[in-house]
Parts: sequence; structure tokens; C-alpha cells
Amino acid sequence: EGSSYQEAYRDQYHYSAQQNWLNDPNGLIKYDGVYHMFYQYNPNGNEWGNMSWGHATSTDLVHWKEQDVAIPESDDNAWVDFWMKTKDDAKPVHYIGRPTTNWDVWNPNGKRYIFSGSVILDKDNVAGFGKNTLIAYYTSTYQVAVRGDDYSNDPWGNLLGIREVQEQNMAYSTDGGKTFIKYNHQNPVIPVTQVPTGDTGNFRDPKVVYDEANKEWVMPLVSGQEVDIFTSTNLKDWTYQSAIQREHDVGNGVWECPELIPMKVKGTNQTKWVLSLSVQQGAPAGGSGMQYFIGDFDGKKFIPETNETIKNPQWLDYGEDFYAGVTFGETPGRTIMLGWMSNWNYVGEQKTSPWHGEMTLPRELTLVQNGEKGYVLKQTPVKEVNKLSQGTVRLGDRKINAVAKLDKTSPITEFSGTQYKVSAHFSWKNNQKPNRLGFKLRESEDGSKFIEVGYDPRNQLVYIDRTTDGENIPRKNSQVKLNGDPTSVKLTAYVDASSIEVFVNDGEKVLTQVAYPNPEHPLDTKKLSFFAGSGKVKITNAIGSHFKSIWGNNPTIMGPSYKA
Ligand code: FRU
Repeated sequence: EGSSYQEAYRDQYHYSAQQNWLNDPNGLIKYDGVYHMFYQYNPNGNEWGNMSWGHATSTDLVHWKEQDVAIPESDDNAWVDFWMKTKDDAKPVHYIGRPTTNWDVWNPNGKRYIFSGSVILDKDNVAGFGKNTLIAYYTSTYQVAVRGDDYSNDPWGNLLGIREVQEQNMAYSTDGGKTFIKYNHQNPVIPVTQVPTGDTGNFRDPKVVYDEANKEWVMPLVSGQEVDIFTSTNLKDWTYQSAIQREHDVGNGVWECPELIPMKVKGTNQTKWVLSLSVQQGAPAGGSGMQYFIGDFDGKKFIPETNETIKNPQWLDYGEDFYAGVTFGETPGRTIMLGWMSNWNYVGEQKTSPWHGEMTLPRELTLVQNGEKGYVLKQTPVKEVNKLSQGTVRLGDRKINAVAKLDKTSPITEFSGTQYKVSAHFSWKNNQKPNRLGFKLRESEDGSKFIEVGYDPRNQLVYIDRTTDGENIPRKNSQVKLNGDPTSVKLTAYVDASSIEVFVNDGEKVLTQVAYPNPEHPLDTKKLSFFAGSGKVKITNAIGSHFKSIWGNNPTIMGPSYKA
């Protein structure tokens, strides 16, 4: 019963649910030798809805086993009755009714959705549920009726409207993450009446972390276009401390899924705090994307390195498809992030079945000093990903001399496929600068369909160009500018059935891109070439590795020419 993970477009080494919709990773944590990944999941359908926490486990960050739903949507529909004033209200209004997600306030079967959040390990039984308990924090969402002042004589009258409410709840697990008990004595642990901006409908995504220096738990969450920071010493009572607002222009996208990550600066003993967050609209490749800021945390406030830090945040990824990324808890010395490989901008057009949505490869983040410019994050796939390799094939060194205007292509006859890693070092002389160079991936036999992963030395842009991939979802190509005027670039691409993750210069920049090559014959587009245009390029240290399927599928079934 169920899928064997062999459908067209099913990625073979990226996690997706066997069936149904998923989005954000939630509550990533290592516990008792096992990595747990929870995620936004619809147990009943292949579109967004019925939000619950799905669950998968792994012992190596690469092979994931799907588990039963860990936190189902909640049937707690106890009557709510409170007054509050939002930023749009002249005076407090009365919220009264039975919570529902169906926009029908009187629906007795209305359920609260379980939105994104995090899991921590309570080693010392601070919360009182027992030693080594896993505690989940998540956003509980529902809609409720808003009534005018004088409704009292007629409980069904004077309905001003319906509003979305988002509040923060906690639940704990005594069976190692299989199931969670909602802590309903004290839920919500942060009621919507405490949202500092009064944005009742966008108050979400708590990510709890321990602050060693100040011996307290810290919870950043978003409200609209700001991050609010709450702290706690007992994991149950949370105190609002401070907020950080947007000071840069990225359209009107709300902030989502913030995180405060303490990290050692590479090669030093100094701790800095990284504030990462997801911006729903306005990212470089269009739509959703992730930003980060470097600074310090004093126990109450995030203090950015400089004012510039808040005005010009850095982007984590320049492709369309790295979103809602968060890091694993309880992996001392390692900062491992994975994201949802999608974008709210076009997500409805993705037509995969019986599943929808998948995760990126887990990445290891390192914080490095970047001269005068402060600090930057470097990102590489976790080393465990190498376990997927079927062995490394050396691809011959070569020179491409493309003097005419046309691209010159140099086919890689020793290697092809639909699930592999390929990497090469490209170099050129300044007076023979090609206008483009790189890989053609997922090429059709006749060479008419392909995806270009390349570098344009004249404009210093690394790019993924999908205009000739044959896909019928029209989307923007993604690109990122490199610093300076380099005379070489290293490109590493992780190619799977319907996705490409490109790491530039060993993690200096990353582009993650979903792509559905040649919809009619997705497995036939498997040739690979180097190319250059109008100039001379030297290619060295080129390697390729075919990757195993994490679902145990024979790669020859999935299409690549495979050499054991
Ligand atoms: C981000 C997000 C979160 C929210 C969840 C709902 O992708 O919109 O802000 O908690 O997805 O599924």
C-alpha cells in the first residue's frame, strides 16, 4: 500500500511525505541518537489545510523514515471570550465564540490548526513533565467572531466580523516524540492578547533556544513584520522583552519562522547570534526567501552588529526554493539547517501527486569573519550527504575555446543521470573572459532541452537558467552577484529528479531551485555538458558522483546511467 516513491518528479534523495502536502520543517531536534523532523502537514489532502505536525526520523540526516502524525490538528474548541485592541481598532473589541478554522464561527466541529514551531529537550525537568522530556511550542490558529459593544442582549447580534487569532501553545512528549500531550492547563502560554503589535492574525512560529550566558530560554516569534522576543526560566511563563522591526524594503511580505542561533565565529571562541527569518514576499528570485542578521543577544535584546545590519540583511539563498529553514537542536558544535524546498509565490502551480512539497538537503552553517564587512554564513551540505555517493567519477580536465558568439558545448560522455552531485573548477584570463560558462544539466538527447547552471564573468553573476528546460511553469531565473572580479569559480550542483541545489565556491553563495525538466519525458533528460561562450575557459578538478535513492529504489529504474 502507498507510494514506492517512483513517480515522475519524485526526488530520490530529498525528503517528501509518502503522500499529501507538507511545508515548513518544525521542531528539528536530535534526541537519543535519532534526528527528528516534524513538519507542517495535511494528513487528509494534497493541498494546504488541516495543518498538523507530520513526523520523520533519521539516524544520519539523510535517510528519513516517515512516522505517524505527531500533533494532529486540535479539536479543542472551548469557547473564547476576551477583549482586545489591534493596531486597526480605535477601541478594544470583543472576541467571542467557538474557535474554528472554517470561517464559520458557530461550527462545532471547527479545529485549530497546528502551525510552525519548535521542540526543545528539557534535560533537567525545568517544566515538571519529567527529565529529558521533549517540549513542543507551536502556534495554534483559529477564527473567532468579533462583536460590537452592545451585543449582550442578543448573543447572535452585532457581529462586526471574523478575525484570525494566532496564539502560542505548548505540548510535551513522554514517548520520545511519537505523540505529544497538549498542555491545556496553561495553553495558550502566550495568548494573542500579548501580541505587542496587536496583529492577531500574524503572530506565530515560536523557536525556543537556550541562552547559556543568561541561563534562560529565549523564544523569538513573528508578529507581522517584526520579531518579538520572549524569555522564560521555567519554560511555561514567558515574558515579552523586545522587538526588532523591518528597516529595509522587501515589499509587503510578512516575516515568518524567525530563529536566534548562537554560533561560534570560526577559529575563535567568540559567540555571535544569528537572527534568521523567512520573508514571505520580496526575495531576490521573487516571492519567499530567507534573510539573516548578525549581532549579539544580551538576554533581552538582539543587538545588530551595525545599523547597516538591519537595513541590509543578507540572504541565505538566491534560488526560489529555500524557505522556512530552521536548525536542529541538541547538535553541539554543529549548526544544521534545512528548509522547505518551495515558495509561496507559485506553490499552488506545482503539480506532483500523491505528494506535494519536499525538504532541502540539510546544510551545515559556519559563521566566518569577513574582513571589514563583519560576518557571513557559509553553507555546505552536511558531510553525511556523501554517504549517498555511489563512488566518484573523475571527469577529464579540458579547455573550451569559444571565440565565436555561439556557446561551445563540451559533452561529458563519462557521466549522466538524474540524481547526482557534479562539481568543477572553472578559470579564465581577464583578457579572454567568456560571457558565460558552466554546466548544462538535465539535457535531452537532442540537446534542445537543458538547465544551465553557470557564471557570467562580465556581470559577475552566478545563475540558474531554466528557460529551456521544457517545464510548463513559467518562473524567473535565479542569480547572485559574486564579490570582486574573480578569474575563477567553483560550481557544485546537487541534482535530483525535480530539484537543483547549487553551492558556489564551497558555500559562499547558494541557489536552490525546484525544476521539472521536460514534463513529457522527465527521465530522458539526463545528459550533462560543460559549456562556455565567447572566450576561453579552463576546467579542472571536475568530478561527478551518482547518488543512491534514500527510498531504496534502484537508480536504473529512475533513469540515470549508473556505474557501480
Ligand atoms: C511559513 C508559514 C508559517 C506558518 C506555516 C503554516 O511557510 O506560513 O508562518 O506557521 O507556514 O503552515
